[in-house]
Parts: sequence; structure tokens; C-alpha cells
Amino acid sequence: MSSSQEITHTTIKNLVKECNNSNAMKVNLRKWTIEDLPLIQEILWKTWITSLGNFIPEDDLRKYFLEHYNDNTLLTRLYQQNTDCFIAQVNDNITVAVEITNFNQERYNVSSLYVLPEFQTMGIGKKLLRLAVKEAQSLGLNKVWIGVMTDNKKALDWYSKFGFNITERLPFTMGKTTVSLYIGYIMFNC
Ligand SMILES: CC(C)(COP(=O)(O)OP(=O)(O)OC[C@H]1O[C@@H](n2cnc3c(N)ncnc32)[C@H](O)[C@@H]1OP(=O)(O)O)[C@@H](O)C(=O)NCCC(=O)NCCS
Repeated sequence: MSSSQEITHTTIKNLVKECNNSNAMKVNLRKWTIEDLPLIQEILWKTWITSLGNFIPEDDLRKYFLEHYNDNTLLTRLYQQNTDCFIAQVNDNITVAVEITNFNQERYNVSSLYVLPEFQTMGIGKKLLRLAVKEAQSLGLNKVWIGVMTDNKKALDWYSKFGFNITERLPFTMGKTTVSLYIGYIMFNC
């Protein structure tokens, strides 16, 4: 799937400037559609490289990415029951973040939450997390479950801010690299 709306460096630079200058950055959250898939792949990849690239070799990241976030697997997720996929768009509807969740009657999982590096710490991740909480509540559930790599310190700190309760530590393999993953849930007061 090729990206028809590639996020160019200039677009990002201008948008970041706009967001920093504006007291009221407009963030729109919505479910993804088939047209969003190329941009979602781009956001996932760019965010992976910056957040995971310092402890997982790029070749291993790429292998996992091509296996799990290729066109077919994303299309499957898009139409799968019990899977919700959201994107965050700012100002002129530029997509800057992605959240993928799956759930059943007992458990609501956030399997991916990625904000483009240039748009981190602007409150977008929190909005997406709140949305997951709202969705879980609407299903009568009282926890949102997440998995975070133990080496992903920034994300770990961020989830800890919302009362991340770690319940187990599991191995997680990407290509030839195996890392540790904390599994746990967050409180609903975020
Ligand atoms: C982790 C991530 C999703 C957070 O999203 P974000 O949009 O950057 O976070 P927000 O701006 O919404 O954070 C809001 C709050 O968290 C605080 N915060 C931001 N980064 C933080 C950090 N690393 N540690 C602790 N607190 C942090 C902010 O100060 C803000 O606090 P406030 O509400 O009290 O003012 C995002 O940074 C990201 O995509 N990281 C890389 C990918 C990744 O690791 N994803 C998680 C994989 S499991």
C-alpha cells in the first residue's frame, strides 16, 4: 500500500509551529477508514524507529512491522469484530497519532498507541487513552489493559502517570531480538 498523503517534513514543521502558536490546537479523534491505512503505517513506523530503535535493531523492527502491520493484516484489523482503531488529527485534519484496541466481554486492550514524535507531549496521547477508557466503560469494563516494553522508559513513565499496575512480565520477540514486556492495566481516573 503506497502512501498517497505522505507526511512531508515541511507539513510537519509548519503544523508543529501552528500548534505551538495556537492556544487551542484542534484535535479530532475518529475511527480509521481504509483510506487512512498508508498514513497509519507511516506513523507506526516513524514512531517505532524513534521510540524502540535504541534497543531493537532496525532490521528486527522492520521484519516484525512487515509481518504484523502489512496491508493485509491492517485490513483484517479494520474489519475485525472486537477491534477498534482510532486516529487523531490536528488542525487541517492531518493525522498524527494512532490507537489500536481489541476487546472481549472481560477485557479491553490497547495494543498500540503511537503519537508522531513531533506531536508528543501536546496532550494527544492522553485524549486517545481517555477514549479507550470511555469505550471500555461503555462495555461495562473497569480497566484498560496495556503492554509496554520494559526498555521503553518514556512510555513506561507515561503510563505510570495514569496508575499503571503491572501484573506480569513476558518475553516479546521481534525478529532476532527478544525483549521484556510489562502487561498491566490502568486506572480510570485519567
Ligand atoms: C507515550 C505516548 C503515547 C504519550 O502520548 P503524548 O501525546 O506524548 O502524551 P500527552 O501529551 O498526552 O501526555 C499528557 C500528560 O503526560 C505528561 N507526560 C508526557 N510525557 C511523559 C512522560 N514520558 N512521562 C511522564 N509524563 C509524561 C505530560 O506532562 C502531560 O501531563 P498533564 O496532563 O499532567 O499536563 C507518546 O509519547 C508516544 O507515542 N510515544 C512513542 C511510542 C510509544 O512508546 N507508545 C507506547 C507504546 S506501548
